[in-house]
Parts: sequence; C-alpha cells; structure tokens
Amino acid sequence: MALIAPSILAADFANLERDIHDIEQNGGDWVHVDVMDGVFVPNISIGIPVVRSLRKVTKLPLDVHLMITRPIRYAEEFVKAGADILTIHLESDTRDNTLACLQKIRSLGCRAGLSLKPGTPAEEARPFLPYCDMILVMTVEPGFGGQKFMADQMPKLRSLREMLRAENPGCLLQVDGGVDAHTCGICKENGAQVLVAGSAYFRAQDRAAFVRLIQAESYE
Ligand code: DX5
Ligand code: ZN
Repeated sequence: MALIAPSILAADFANLERDIHDIEQNGGDWVHVDVMDGVFVPNISIGIPVVRSLRKVTKLPLDVHLMITRPIRYAEEFVKAGADILTIHLESDTRDNTLACLQKIRSLGCRAGLSLKPGTPAEEARPFLPYCDMILVMTVEPGFGGQKFMADQMPKLRSLREMLRAENPGCLLQVDGGVDAHTCGICKENGAQVLVAGSAYFRAQDRAAFVRLIQAESYE
C-alpha cells in the first residue's frame, strides 16, 4: 500500500484546522507542509509558528518539506515545533552542511528526508543515502502547486528505488508535484511509496475515494 500526504499548500490558510481534520476524516496518512523562503524558490508560504499550531490540532505525522536556503539554520526549530519528518533540499547548501543537517535532524529524534529538484541527477544523492529516512523526487520545479507533472522524472525515481534497495532498504521514496488520479500509477510503478498531492486532493469531488486510489496497490 502507498501512503498519501495531502499538501496544505492547496488548503485554505484561513481554515487550516478544518482542512487538516478533513484530511484525517478522508483517510490521509500524513500532512505535507510546504515551507518556502522566497530565496531557494520564488515563492513564500508558511513557517515555524504554523507548524507549531498544526501540531496541536492533529496526531497525523507532519511531513515538513523545507524549500529554504541553508536549512541547517532552522532544522532544530522545525523539529521542536512538531515535524515528524523534515525534508531538506540537496541543492540548498554545501555537501558538508547537507550531511550535517541530516545528522542533526536524526539526532533530534526526527526522520530526515532529502529532496532532489528535477535537474538534479539521482547519483548526487548516493553519498547521503545512509543518512536519510526518505528521498523525495520532485516531479515539478519546487515553488508552486498546480503545475504539470514531469513524467521525465520517472527513470530517476526508478534509479533511486534500485539504489535504496541496495544501500538503505528501509528508506522511503516520495514524489511531489502534479500527482493526480492519472499520474499516480506511473509513480507507484516506478517505486514511489509516499505520494504528495495538493491540488488534486483538495479539488477532488470525492476526497476519500481519491485517497483510496492513491493508496491502492503500490507495485512493490
Ligand atoms: C511544490 C510543493 C508541492 C505542492 C504540490 O513546490 O513542494 O508539495 O504543494 O502541489 P500539486 O500537488 O498541486 O502539484
Ligand atoms: Zn512539497
């Protein structure tokens, strides 16, 4: 079974508690929280105080996706605010700082994720794999919801699945961007175990049915 992490980037920010409870009621597995700083990506979203408030209203795992420059500066605060999984971008700092940040996240008792933008080859993740609990393959350029799914990322997803099988079989593989009822199948076929969906989840006529569709047979 695959897991679904609805992204609250597509929720109503004036009604986040309502929308998180909606995710719970419709069977969502995790809540995906997109943090953007207007520097690493050309958009600004939400930050630490919002994670802290969300933590108080749900028991679902908070899957926090940091699209910020030099995330090591803020990792501890996001963990303390209540993140269960904290994902940083491979492109957002030096190799040494990225490694140090992953280790720091784990040392604080949180799961550590590493995300790759579409232009970053799978091979660049290899040195970090033993330090990760999840790898995130972006299927859009990070920064905005509602973009078109990039099917050309599927060979990279498959390569990472193979690399993880050999080097860190317990590490989860996630996809994020343009995931919907049509594109979820190919993601699962290529090894995705956790699927993020923003627009497709919040626009679905029947959200519970959409959740079941994403969760159905994972091909793994
Ligand atoms: C994009 C974000 C995604 C976004 C996905 O930078 O990382 O999580 O919310 O939105 P959809 O599912 O609409 O492509
Ligand atoms: Zn995201």
